[in-house]
Parts: sequence; C-alpha cells; structure tokens
Amino acid sequence: MIILLTGGTGYIGSHTAIELIKLGHDVEIMDNLFNSKIEVLDKIEKIAGEKPKFHKIDLLDKDGMDKMFAEGKYDLVIHFAGLKAVGESVEKPLKYYENNVGGTINLLECTKKYDVKKIVFSSSATVYGDQGVAELTEEMQTGVGITNPYGETKHMIEEILKDVAEADPEFEITILRYFNPVGSHPSGLIGEDPNGIPNNLMPIIMKVSTGEIEKLRIFGDDYDTVDGTGVRDYIHVVDLAKGHVAAIKKMKQGVSIYNLGTGRGASVLEMVAAFEKASGKKLPYEVVGRRAGDLAEIYANPSKAERELGWKAELTIDDAMNDTINYLKHLKNE
Ligand code: NAD
Ligand code: UD1
Repeated sequence: MIILLTGGTGYIGSHTAIELIKLGHDVEIMDNLFNSKIEVLDKIEKIAGEKPKFHKIDLLDKDGMDKMFAEGKYDLVIHFAGLKAVGESVEKPLKYYENNVGGTINLLECTKKYDVKKIVFSSSATVYGDQGVAELTEEMQTGVGITNPYGETKHMIEEILKDVAEADPEFEITILRYFNPVGSHPSGLIGEDPNGIPNNLMPIIMKVSTGEIEKLRIFGDDYDTVDGTGVRDYIHVVDLAKGHVAAIKKMKQGVSIYNLGTGRGASVLEMVAAFEKASGKKLPYEVVGRRAGDLAEIYANPSKAERELGWKAELTIDDAMNDTINYLKHLKNE
C-alpha cells in the first residue's frame, strides 16, 4: 500500500514508518517540522533501508495539501500530526483548536475529494476523562471531564470522524487511543526529542539525566495508589508502532476504536527506579504538590485490540528504559 503519514517525522510517526517500510509498504511523510527534524528521514532510511518521500506542508495549508493529494496515490492515511503540549493548550486554546481540529478538517476534505477512504487517527486515553475507575475500555462514554483543550481536540476529532463515516459509509476509520508512549527504537537512532521544555514524565526524566533539568518534580505522593504517586500505562513506542501495522490489516467500514496500552500500570516512583536500574545512576527528584487535572491511576484494558487485531504489547518498561539510555548516548554523540 501507499501510505501517507501526517506528522510522520515525529516521535510515534517515525517509529511507525519503520515498521511499515519493513513490511514493504510505500511510505510518504508530510510534516511542517514544527516539532521534529528533517534528519529523522535519514535515520529511518538507515534502519529500514528506504527513505520516505517527504512533503514539508502544514495541515493548515489547504492548497499545499490539495496539491500533494492530487499528485499522490494514497491508499491510506495515518494522521499523527498535531500539537500535544497540554500546558500550552491551556494558554493558547485557539492555536490548538485551529491546528488540531481545523487541520484535521482540511485533511478530511482532501481524503474525501481524492477518494482516500482509509484513515487511522492518533487519539489518546485523555478522551476518557475521569471515569472513576482505573481500567479503561473502549465502550465507556468519552468527552466528560476532560481538563484541557488538547484533550478536547482529541475528543472533537473522534466525533468528527464518526460523523464523516456516518455520512459516507465507504470510509474505513480506525481510532487508536494511545496510553503513555515511552522508549525509543533499539537502534538508538530515533526517539523522543521534543523541541522546548517537555511536559510528560519520560522526556523530563531524560532531561534530568542529562543535567538539562535539575531534578524531577513528582506531582504528589498522596494518591491512593501502590506508593502514593500517579499510575499510568506506559507502552513501548515500538509496540505502539506495531499496533498501527496490525490496525491497517484489519480496516473495516465505519469507525473502529482500540486502546493501545499494555494493561498494566506503573507508578512514577517505579518509573524512576526502572530508569535508575538501566542507567546505573541516581535520578534526583523531589515530591511536590499534585498537578491540576491529574488522575491517580489509569491503565488500558487492551483486550479488544488483542481479540480483533491480534496485537498485544510485548516489550517491558525495562526494555523502554534500556532503549532510552541507548538513544541518549546517540544524542550525546551527534
Ligand atoms: P510529535 O510532536 O513528535 O509528532 C507530531 C508531528 O506533527 C510533529 O512532527 C509536528 O511537527 C507535526 N505537526 C504538528 N502540527 C502540524 C501541522 N499543522 N502540519 C503539519 N505537521 C504538523 O508527537 P507524537 O508523540 O509523535 O504524537 C503523534 C500523535 O499522537 C499526536 O497527534 C499526539 O497528540 C498523539 N498522542 C501522543 C501521545 C504521546 O504521549 N506522545 C499520547 C497520545 C496521543
Ligand atoms: C498527560 C496529559 C494528557 C495527555 C498525556 C500524553 C495532563 C493533566 N494530562 O497525561 O492529557 O494525553 O500527557 O501527552 O497533563 N509526572 C510527574 N512529574 C512530571 C511529569 C509527570 O510526577 O514532571 C507524573 C504525572 O503526575 C503522572 C505521570 O507522571 O502521574 C505521567 O505524566 P504524563 O507523562 O504527563 O502523562 P499523563 O499524566 O498520563
């Protein structure tokens, strides 16, 4: 298949590109490089043996998008492109709604016009809001209790996709709700390398280990969890990438929704301990107050993806930590 990855030079897109190329798919990437680097293309080539054709286009550039679709012969689009900094989305909500929701509408107009009716969308566990239980399943009601505009954009896009599929039954749409992606490619060549100050736990741990951030601030140790710190479902990015490969093999008409997670939760202190074990070094941290909008504990029920897609996460947190240390070594030598 000829597959277009929007946001494909980013963290999850680049790992997915590798898995798709390895299976013989023709991969093209469009990205505005706002949060990724062009050098990722060479690294994909080094790992997978082929360099994806690249289009430096913004989702908001309607003419550029139209031209790309007019020239391309895509069978399927995986839509990763989007802004994802939760804190920034609270400060600049319009930027997030315009980029994520407006950009997706532009993309969907092109897919309709050029008859590309298979779409996979990167959604997030954030759409579940606060369910009052830790284990999340796909049929739960979404969109209630989302605490930031970033999360709202994910929910809105899911609703738009459902309406698009309702209006045109030829659409085959798969929504993948990612839990917390961590780790890097085992080659050490690609990984998460965000521009600016990160918000998420793993990139912060990485920057503490390199000395760019003085210490990790743990947001609360008084939750009702195994050790009082927040619990999340951390999934190795290579497992996540393979989830996309499994999903595109089983596309069907209408909208299908899958959690991509491991089904197991880990606490912040367990993540710190795993990083220390892999690096052989202490990670400085202090416990501070809770972060607004945080939940105590959430993890995926991933059984639908296993049942219907034949996919399940196989790598461990220790694998993710070892691959992250390897990636940090490569970054240092670049
Ligand atoms: P990323 O920032 O590494 O990749 C996203 C890419 O999209 C970047 O390369 C960026 O330059 C590009 N982009 C953003 N706006 C664009 C626009 N207007 N036009 C063209 N390109 C644009 O992020 P990621 O972690 O790889 O996430 C990929 C997707 O998965 C995002 O939609 C994100 O919201 C979603 N997601 C990520 C996580 C996570 O923790 N990483 C969790 C759940 C969902
Ligand atoms: C956050 C977002 C969520 C988004 C997801 C992936 C919030 C409230 N939620 O979720 O909308 O979909 O990222 O982008 O921002 N932690 C610390 N110290 C830190 C950073 C994190 O203790 O400096 C803790 C958090 O309290 C949490 C865990 O680490 O318990 C994971 O945090 P994070 O990586 O931000 O992910 P989520 O909270 O799951």
